[in-house]
This record gives sequence, structure tokens and C-alpha cells, in this order.
Amino acid sequence: MTHLILDLNKALGFVSKSRIYAWENKAMSAVNALHNGSGAGSDFLGWLTLPTSITEAEISDIEQTAPLLRSKCEIVVVIGIGGSYLGTKATLEATGNSFDPLLKQRANPLILYAGHHISEDYLYELTEALKGKSFGLINISKSGTTTEPALAFRILKKQLEDAFGKDEARQRIVAVTDAHKGALRTLAGIEGYKTFVIPDNVGGRFSVLTPVGLLPMAVAGVPIRELINGATDMEKATGPDTPFAVNIPAHYAATRSELYRSGKKIEILANFNPKLHYVGEWWKQLYGESEGKDHKGIFPAAVDLTTDLHSMGQWIQEGERSIFETVISVETPTHSVLIPADEADLDGLNFLAGKRVDEVNKMAELGTSLAHVDGGVPNIRISIPELTPYYLGQLFYFFEKACGISGYLLGVNPFDQPGVEAYKKNMFALLNKPGFEKESEAIKARL
Ligand code: PA5
Repeated sequence: MTHLILDLNKALGFVSKSRIYAWENKAMSAVNALHNGSGAGSDFLGWLTLPTSITEAEISDIEQTAPLLRSKCEIVVVIGIGGSYLGTKATLEATGNSFDPLLKQRANPLILYAGHHISEDYLYELTEALKGKSFGLINISKSGTTTEPALAFRILKKQLEDAFGKDEARQRIVAVTDAHKGALRTLAGIEGYKTFVIPDNVGGRFSVLTPVGLLPMAVAGVPIRELINGATDMEKATGPDTPFAVNIPAHYAATRSELYRSGKKIEILANFNPKLHYVGEWWKQLYGESEGKDHKGIFPAAVDLTTDLHSMGQWIQEGERSIFETVISVETPTHSVLIPADEADLDGLNFLAGKRVDEVNKMAELGTSLAHVDGGVPNIRISIPELTPYYLGQLFYFFEKACGISGYLLGVNPFDQPGVEAYKKNMFALLNKPGFEKESEAIKARL
């Protein structure tokens, strides 16, 4: 039983139902290929059954480690880039308090992030902010060799050891990495860090339901079993035995494939709740790295509405007609705020007095989708009842499954990312990394 609703009504004026159903066989073949491992990248399909295969022992290990960090640390820095931090950030922003850093009475440590870029100013300010604070580190890297997190870890590990001594620092560092290989695995073995494994058959952007996401979420106080339950329900509802008509990831994948075929090259993921901003960032990585190859693929963009209606709204309404929009809609907010009456009514808003703010937001959402449809933008709506870990689990699994199907419909391997290496090779050549001598010479000749 899932509660996520896929509404295609406002896309049907642009692509017909029969054109979407023309993808049925291919989409269901893609679902089968995922489940029987006959498609491209089949050694990276571990994510497909993560929700139902995670064991009680694995969950308990995470739930027992989280309080150890919680009891020692007022701040925990999550070090990682791409799939190694986006699922955590998406979940904590979606389910947490928007003013978390300002909360005086904390039940759980404040989670900060590092290793997701190479900004010196950011690292300076972070190390300054950590001075005098009781902090810990969760270092997440599947390869263990990614430059951004490795640099951040080197700096923060030293700060932690200088502040607390090597023995105590070891108790405050947890490594999440490959089971056997990579620099982080080796270091964790030498130092005796507590470790968690990222399974070999799960790629970074599909790893939110492994300890990559679950450990930092548990440290932050997220009830991870609810997230896993939501993903489990979605896994069970989207297998090869679920017909296309009700197989919502297959339907979404077919619809976006047909829109792409008809010339819609950009998908804009929109939300009407800023708590979903990082779900958009997570989604962009998932679809961008999975589909953008062989000079093909829908460009994934994201907007926060109504905020971006005052910046990107003009382009969406009247720019080049190469876009379609997928709106994530949350049916019921967690809290209630009523609009007060005002005696002077100078802003003319008394007609809204007594209404909830969300009633206005919902009419903004409806009005926006109708305006965008009128302006030539197909609109797909994905709604969840509430922004809870359970529904977020459904949403994560839904998008992952649809991404695998979409990649197969596009004819690419959705589970590799060869293009990510290009900038790294140039960066190492420019930095004179040992082993890159030939590349160094070649790139410097171009400057
Ligand atoms: O999807 C992927 O595999 C990548 O984008 C990774 O998430 C990202 O590069 C981080 O890699 P790692 O965890 O090996 O440091």
C-alpha cells in the first residue's frame, strides 16, 4: 500500500494517454530487467531490494552507534559529496525544524556538512565554529579517494585530535565506506574507527537507504525505521507483478520518456515547501548522473516555489518551450498558522483572515500549474500526504526505481558515471599529482 499519488492529468494535453501506453511494454521490460539483472549496470542493483533486505542486526548496529555520538557530541560533521551526503541533507531538511541551528534546547546534535566542495573560506569558518565545541565526524566515501571529502577529513581529523587527543578522537569518528578497499577502509583499520559498509552493488546516488543515509539520520534523531518502512511499501508495490496501469514509477518513467521524445528536454522539479529544496538537489544528482550520457538525457533542474516564481517564473511561463514540470506536493502541513484579521486592512488581505496559510499556498500551487499548462508547460504532480520519514522513504524509492526504468528506456547504463572523471583528471594534472605527469604536460600546453 502506498500513498504517493502520480497525477498526469495536466500532462495529457501535451502527450496523449495512448502515447504513454505505447511505452508500456518497454517500461515493464525495464522493470523486469532491473529485477532479473539482465540490463546494463546489473552489478549495481543492490538498491532495488535494500528496504526489504536490510536486517534487524544492521538497523540495530546503526541505532546503537547513533547514541554514542549523540552522548559525546553537540555537533556532528557529516563529510561526503554527492550521494554520500545529499540523501541525509534532504531528509534532515524535509523532516527537521527549519531553524534547527537556532534551537537552544537540543535533544540531538546539530548536523553540519563538509567535503561537498573545496571552499577554503567554508572550511576556515567551519573550523572556527567548531573551536571549543564538542564535536564528532561521520566520514562517508564509498571509494575512499574522493578529493573533496578526503581534504575536509584530513583538516577536521587533525582539529579533533588536537582538541581531544588521539584516543578520544577515535571514539568520535565513524567511517562509512567500502567493505574491503579504498584509503578510508585502510585508515579506519589502522585507527580502529567504528565502520559501516556501503555494499559493493549500491552506487553513491542510490545509497540513501544504506548506512550512508541511515547513520547520520539516526544521529540527528530521525526514526529510520519509518523511512525504511515507507521505502519497503514502495518496493513491494512496484515490482514486475504490478501492472503498468498502477506501477507508478513505470508510469512516470514512460511519461517523461514520451515528453522527452516530443522535444521536452528539461524537467523542472518544483516544490511549494522550502523543506523540499534538498530533495530537489538529491533528485538532480540521481537523474543527472544516471541519464546524462552518450549525449542524451533530460536535463534535471529544480525550483522552490513560490520563491522562484519571482525569479525563474518568467522563464517557465514564457521562455523556450523545451520544459516540463514535475511538482512534489505535500497535502497537509505539519503545523497550523492562521492568518489574522487586521483592523486597518491596508494590505487588503482581510478576505483571507481566519484561513490557514497553506490554503493560500495550495491555491498558489493550483494557479501556477494552470498558468504553466496555459503557457505550454506539461505538468506532472506527485503528492504525498505529509512530510514525514515514512512518506519520504516512499518518495526516495519511487524516484530511484523510476530512474532505473527511465535510464533503460533512454538506452543508457543508469548506474555508471564515467563523465565525472573528466574534471578530476584535469584537476590532478594541474596540481601535479604524482602519476599524472603526461596529463600535466598536455594540459599546461593548453593554457
Ligand atoms: O553516484 C555516485 O556514485 C557519485 O556521485 C558519488 O556519490 C560521489 O562521487 C561520492 O563518491 P564517494 O562516496 O566514493 O566519495
